[in-house]
Amino acid sequence: MIWTLWVGILASLIGYVSAADAVQYRDPDTGLTFSQNFGLYKADGRGITFRVAIPSGVGQYTPYDAVVQIVVPNDVGWGGLAWNGGMTKNPLLTFWRGSNNAPILSSRWANGHSTPTTYTGATYTLYKTGTKSNSTHWQFTALCQGCTSWTADGGATRYLSTRGGNRLAFAYSPSRPASNTNAALQVHEVHGYWSHDFVQASNDNWDAAIGRLQT
Ligand code: HEM
Ligand SMILES: *[C@@H]1O[C@H](CO)[C@@H](O)[C@H](O)[C@H]1NC(C)=O
Repeated sequence: MIWTLWVGILASLIGYVSAADAVQYRDPDTGLTFSQNFGLYKADGRGITFRVAIPSGVGQYTPYDAVVQIVVPNDVGWGGLAWNGGMTKNPLLTFWRGSNNAPILSSRWANGHSTPTTYTGATYTLYKTGTKSNSTHWQFTALCQGCTSWTADGGATRYLSTRGGNRLAFAYSPSRPASNTNAALQVHEVHGYWSHDFVQASNDNWDAAIGRLQT
């Protein structure tokens, strides 16, 4: 338990530190510009890389699409991305590998600290472009519609800012779920937070840029 706690603290610290010098990543496969952060889940340096790309010129209080590209070490059972930096009451992306090692992306929502249920307010479309694997990692690239705004308690709509950092969070579990999007998830061993720079994630000519990607 102490070990798990310590890794969790370490992950949070590293996540925090890396936010200060968030990396801009120009992806050769998709041609998109992403802002990237690394979520450390093991003290030996293993972590999940989270990349976000968004359209340029989005006004305030406007919903917008995003492309996520996530690089996952093969020992991850399931991983998760929380779009508002906490477990509850925000769109959650959970991901793992199904049969034939194909990526499974599951959109979830949690009202408390228990198994998140399916969330239809955000949908993920997997691209073949930017989705690949090798002997150590797999990665996927997906369009998300509905990840950057959601309905908070009381009915107000919340938006992620395109003009600065947004607090995102991740979760890691070594336990691989069953091969369907509604599969049960074992609770995470590690979670962490960071501020994800959405300014550096901006892409001009968005429709054309994502129109080139193969679904
Ligand atoms: C079986 C599914 C899950 C269970 C039972 C579960 C349970 C919990 C519990 C008990 C905590 C509180 C831990 C503490 O206070 O130390 C927690 C925190 C957290 N969980 Fe989960 N979780 C699940 C799935 C997820 C998923 C899918 C994500 C993200 C995609 C996630 C992200 C987080 C984060 C970021 C925190 C820390 C911030 C917060 O408390 O809101 N969890 N979880
Ligand atoms: C394996 O694939 C990952 C994800 O695409 C990539 O980041 C990594 O550099 C690759 N490793 C090698 C040795 O090619």
